[in-house]
Amino acid sequence: MRILVAGATGVIGHPLVGALRERGHEVSALVRQESRERAPEADHVVSADALDREALLSAVSAVRPEVVVHQMTALRLMGDDPVAAFGLTARLRTEGTANLMEAARAAGAGRLVAQSIAFAAAPAEELVLDEDAPLYVDAPDPGWAATVRAVAELERLVLDSGPLAGTVLRYGTLYGPGTLYARDGGAAQAVRAGHLPLPGKGAGITSFLHVEDAVAATVAAVESEATGAFHVTDDDPAPAAQWLPHYAQALGGPAPRSIPADHAPQLLGWFLAHQLTAAHGAANDRARTALGWKPLRPSWREGLGEE
Ligand SMILES: NC(=O)c1ccc[n+]([C@@H]2O[C@H](COP(=O)([O-])OP(=O)(O)OC[C@H]3O[C@@H](n4cnc5c(N)ncnc54)[C@H](OP(=O)(O)O)[C@@H]3O)[C@@H](O)[C@H]2O)c1
Repeated sequence: MRILVAGATGVIGHPLVGALRERGHEVSALVRQESRERAPEADHVVSADALDREALLSAVSAVRPEVVVHQMTALRLMGDDPVAAFGLTARLRTEGTANLMEAARAAGAGRLVAQSIAFAAAPAEELVLDEDAPLYVDAPDPGWAATVRAVAELERLVLDSGPLAGTVLRYGTLYGPGTLYARDGGAAQAVRAGHLPLPGKGAGITSFLHVEDAVAATVAAVESEATGAFHVTDDDPAPAAQWLPHYAQALGGPAPRSIPADHAPQLLGWFLAHQLTAAHGAANDRARTALGWKPLRPSWREGLGEE
């Protein structure tokens, strides 16, 4: 198939281009002009900023993809400028998605597969949730509420896309090379410096996902006819009380110190406090059934903090 990967320089996008080519597909990499030198080896490389509608229409129509993959975020800016990272990512999820879908339709594509997140659910009784759980669009933190609303808009656009078949992949918290949780990533640095304590009982649940599994699930989604939203997560959702001490030990850092849960938002910010104390895990049963995918790394216990 002719496939276009938007976000082809990214943690997932870059290896995804190679994985799709290995499967025999003709793959076009869409990159921003200023990032061209970081483009992966591809059958075609085209340039556009996704927030520039005209440029995107022309770049996508030049390679006439049958399937378009959306892997664009600005989260890499997080270490330097979190406000810009979240603001631009929200624009990529709303305007960028709308532009990409228009370009995909105009170029005659039949299918769009887009990146979303598996950790945006609203509070619920169950510890591990399926895809029907409502999103936390009214989270008390304005920044997180804005992020979740942008995620919800991306999902609405992709799943309500008329003749273009839409698939949303809600990735778990990524670990592995290039991610926040890599040995050289921001989370690892914080843990080694003793800056990531364990609040309260550390009862917030995280569903992790190795980058290799994100790539493999995306290949499966591109080749499948399944539509809908799918949690792409490992099989081992775990509370912070388990994964954080394990991660600290794997990194050779100090054991995380305990702090009272109600100190966490002030010390860590609302989102991190929520992740460590109250977040829900995400069940991957639907992705297994509908996409015929299963994680090669079923548990973070086998590799988190090791690469
Ligand atoms: N995914 C999440 O929800 C999440 C949450 C927290 C932290 N993180 C961390 O953030 C990192 C990012 O992972 P990721 O796969 O989401 O992102 P990524 O690796 O930064 O890839 C994002 C892709 O989007 C492209 N892009 C950005 N702005 C664009 C624009 N205006 N037009 C066209 N393309 C644009 C980037 O291109 P350029 O190379 O040109 O910039 C890049 O190819 C990982 O380390 C992850 O652990 C992710």
